Amino acid sequence: MKLFIDTAEFSEIQAAYEMGFVAGVTTNPSLIVKAHRDLKEVIKQIADLVDGPVSAEVIADKAEAMVKEAHDLRRLGQNVVIKIPMTPEGMKATAILSKEDIPVNVTLIFSANQALLAARAGATYVSPFVGRIDDMSMEGMTLIQDIAEIFTKHQIDTQIIAASIRTPMHMLQAAKAGAHIATVPYNVLLASMKHPLTDAGLARFMADWQAANQK
Ligand code: G3P
Repeated sequence: MKLFIDTAEFSEIQAAYEMGFVAGVTTNPSLIVKAHRDLKEVIKQIADLVDGPVSAEVIADKAEAMVKEAHDLRRLGQNVVIKIPMTPEGMKATAILSKEDIPVNVTLIFSANQALLAARAGATYVSPFVGRIDDMSMEGMTLIQDIAEIFTKHQIDTQIIAASIRTPMHMLQAAKAGAHIATVPYNVLLASMKHPLTDAGLARFMADWQAANQK
């Protein structure tokens, strides 16, 4: 499973990218607003830094306008992936863009049927939202398993991006459930790196080294 970072905070993307484990970036309108950034400006900045896919979401709700926005966003970088919501108009836009070989990430996926429809419309990626299903007292990770099973059984090459990842446990479970990618907030990437035994082990190594070299 590859790791993307789910943020529009450029400093977080830069820091994660320097650590080498991030292969792409996803954003959404809420994240852009939270970062107090202009959409096109921040997408261009991210697309210039990262050589992997950078998902930028359309705001329009009609297919024709979504396609126009997609063309504008693609001018910001050849690695820009167009994020399209899972709606009938979104499916129309996905069908048009995929015929133009423009990669689409269909977002706001909450059922396996939605993922199948998006894949058949030509999506390169589907983004099931794990955390928001957990919020409804349901098992978000079961959705990842179901989609992975269906895509494998029917040889569908659309990639599953486990999204709305909130905890290190989500990241682990997404990898086990068969997600191709998890898009993970910066704080969850950092938390996943931490282990008290790593810290204790390093402290012991340094203490032993200093004790031996002070003699
Ligand atoms: O990738 C989608 C993600 O940004 C949504 O996360 O935590 O708002 O459900 P959350």
